[in-house]
Amino acid sequence: MCGIIAYAGRREAEPILIEGLRRLEYRGYDSAGLATLTGPQVHLRKQAGRIDNLIRYLKDRPAPGCHGISHTRWATHGPANDRNAHPHIGGNGDGLVAVVHNGVIENYSALKHHLQEQGIVFQTATDTEVIAQLIAHHLNGDLMAAVRKVLPLLKGTYGLAVVSPREPEVIVGARLGSPLVLGIGKGENFLASDPSALAGNTNKVVYLQDHQVCLLSRDRWTIEDQNPERTPATVAIQDIDWDPGDADKGEFEHFMLKEIYEQPEALENAMRGRLDEADASAHFGGLNLDTQALRGMDRIIITACGTSYHAGLVGEYLFEEIARIPVEVEYASEFRYRNRPIERNTLMLAITQSGETADTLAALRESKRKGHPTLALCNVVGSTIARETDGGVYLHAGPEIGVASTKAFTNQVLVLTMLALYLGRMRNISSLQGVRILEELRAMPKMVHRTFACHDAVRRIAEKYFQANNFLYLGRQYLYPVALEGALKLKEISYIHAEGYPAAEMKHGPIALVDEETPSVFLIPRGAVFDKVMSNLEEIKARGGPVIAIASEQDQEVATHVEDVIYIPEVPEYLQPLVAVVPLQLLAYHVALLRGCDVDRPRNLAKSVTVE
Ligand code: AGP
Repeated sequence: MCGIIAYAGRREAEPILIEGLRRLEYRGYDSAGLATLTGPQVHLRKQAGRIDNLIRYLKDRPAPGCHGISHTRWATHGPANDRNAHPHIGGNGDGLVAVVHNGVIENYSALKHHLQEQGIVFQTATDTEVIAQLIAHHLNGDLMAAVRKVLPLLKGTYGLAVVSPREPEVIVGARLGSPLVLGIGKGENFLASDPSALAGNTNKVVYLQDHQVCLLSRDRWTIEDQNPERTPATVAIQDIDWDPGDADKGEFEHFMLKEIYEQPEALENAMRGRLDEADASAHFGGLNLDTQALRGMDRIIITACGTSYHAGLVGEYLFEEIARIPVEVEYASEFRYRNRPIERNTLMLAITQSGETADTLAALRESKRKGHPTLALCNVVGSTIARETDGGVYLHAGPEIGVASTKAFTNQVLVLTMLALYLGRMRNISSLQGVRILEELRAMPKMVHRTFACHDAVRRIAEKYFQANNFLYLGRQYLYPVALEGALKLKEISYIHAEGYPAAEMKHGPIALVDEETPSVFLIPRGAVFDKVMSNLEEIKARGGPVIAIASEQDQEVATHVEDVIYIPEVPEYLQPLVAVVPLQLLAYHVALLRGCDVDRPRNLAKSVTVE
């Protein structure tokens, strides 16, 4: 899941490409590079590491030209070094081709072997160089034609941008599986992995579909289907509304902290215009499934990855309790290859922040192929999953730039609660119960805001435990998925090993991990299983394990059992995930800071996982 941006226009390309790469860095930051053209001259510049390294490198070696392609990498083939950074080169002289690629070519070694037999020498270990060498091999003056010849040979996924001094005015792009959007300007045009890279340059975009190829220059652009007839594609130009504030941290030191503090407002945005007092229910404009069809659904299968999967697990409790619908939650990466029998009248619900996660997209496509109605909860407008699902609900959490998902999680959980209310009101929930749930939902932005009062306590506790090498996160019922989410947050930004468990599961093995060096974070706000969780907590304390408790405000009882207590506002049990996750987000944030980790760009990760 790399980031691509390309430019053809009258302005110097380098600063435009660099600004675009900065906005795409969340997609991968192992290395970065660009290639600009001035007539027959190709100016190739690439560096391992963050965009800043490339910027420093360009200071002494600027890349002139009003025309270029660029890339920020998440390594799939070959280590993260200067040589394996993109663009990759094929051919030489004016037959030279430069390629940037987002995706994975699964049959690259067979193709490489075939080309080596024809005497072509490779410089790198990457799959992408094979594409460049293949295009150069087929280039006969018409770059688009050469690219079209090569695409059918590739097995895997790609978002591509290609240039050659043979046609110095054009850029050719192609998409299969990895997102690519064309940006339309005045006397200039762009290609990018996602529209955020074009902010400030244009808000007119066309999303390329799979199996489409495009050609752009400063004054024109065309999109064709890959078929031999070169049929012009039917395209829809969409306007994107930018809020320049979206892409900067404001007064916050990191995007993650900014996004944690944006949660109350994000929850407001997710509810705006969707709470229906008259019906004592919620309503959604984009489900595209009528009440009859929805009432006929006997089962829901939720599919997702990472944090979205954890939101799905909370959804399981919500749908079963509020709408009395049986639910299964599936890891999309497993679901896509599992041939599980699915009953008729099963609704498939995909959950995703980015809308581009390859495994979730494949699980959605698999469900559609099998004829099941599909819904998606998604945060990115116009993303592939949002365009391919039958219906869905946008999260309205605003752009999430920090790799560790925070506000998207709470908006996913909130929208799942509203969806459970909507389905429940057409099944088993009375209007009085509906009115009560609406009131409780409306109160949540304030409750989440009140939770920020725990920030200092969390910082102090982080200072006490940031050197620990293992953490355990324990919760029950609605808070078991939150325990998993807390552990994931700590793992992904502080690189500390952490496990989440249903608290009562500890005595079936994991309790063997407990010692003085391993803190256990207990989610123990007041609720139906409070006493049970308290006994689980005592089992850990009895073995000398330090305990950090997330408890309801003013709950003195917990404070008599535990030294490190973080208080959260008291809310109805089914809404506790929305407040209980906040101190876990902040704990991970401060532990990562204290360990000197790059909170917004954690190692080995990327914000949207577009390869499987
Ligand atoms: C969460 O902090 C991670 N960034 C990751 O687990 C993420 O949730 C997962 O990759 C799913 O992404 P999606 O919601 O964009 O589909």
